[in-house]
Amino acid sequence: MRLNRQRLPRLCTDRLHVRLLEPHETDLMVRFRVENRAHLEQWEPLRQPVFFTEGFWQVQLRLTLRDFREGTSACFVVLSPNEDEVLGVCNYSNIVRGTFQSCQLGYALAEKHQSKGIMFEALSLTNAYMFQELGLHRIMAGYLPHNERSGGLLNRLGFEKEGLARKYLKINGRWEDHLLTALINDA
Ligand SMILES: CC(C)(COP(=O)(O)OP(=O)(O)OC[C@H]1O[C@@H](n2cnc3c(N)ncnc32)[C@H](O)[C@@H]1OP(=O)(O)O)[C@@H](O)C(=O)NCCC(=O)NCCS
Repeated sequence: MRLNRQRLPRLCTDRLHVRLLEPHETDLMVRFRVENRAHLEQWEPLRQPVFFTEGFWQVQLRLTLRDFREGTSACFVVLSPNEDEVLGVCNYSNIVRGTFQSCQLGYALAEKHQSKGIMFEALSLTNAYMFQELGLHRIMAGYLPHNERSGGLLNRLGFEKEGLARKYLKINGRWEDHLLTALINDA
């Protein structure tokens, strides 16, 4: 499949826009990360103080664009319709081609925007994009067994449980067991 990765995707519904951020938009990401620092701490890797700074995100957003163009990741940001607020992130990383055609998904939603169906709506768009536009076959997502919100969301999106991986990811400084799930492109 030949892709024009110079043209970045923009996926829209009435209440959200999903796209990659440009390096000049670091302030939006820093605000999201600072406001949701405590909310996300228990579900994510340990973050160093630099993670909450403009300097970090200026570099990170540049790398994100480069990796998208090289086809190794697609780190989407969920924005409000007027694009002045980050509602959440949907990160598809470790894109592998060849006989695998797969990637790994991670996501996070702002605390104040939970319980509105926003992440379900965003991931419905981005999963379809990964299958239809990028031609992937499998999207994998793991979650902590006690993260019921995340498990429910993956289940509603059609992800199927594949097993339990012992001490799979280092979350908030500790190696944690994860339930592994996958969404298969049956097309
Ligand atoms: C996991 C996470 C993204 C789930 O967010 P969420 O808002 O519960 O997810 P959804 O977008 O599927 O929304 C579902 C909720 O919206 C409600 N809802 C309202 N309108 C809706 C609509 N139009 N469509 C679907 N659901 C709707 C549902 O009833 C459900 O409500 P509930 O919270 O009372 O059960 C969020 O809790 C989060 O970011 N957590 C911290 C980070 C994290 O866990 N990341 C994943 C690591 S594996």
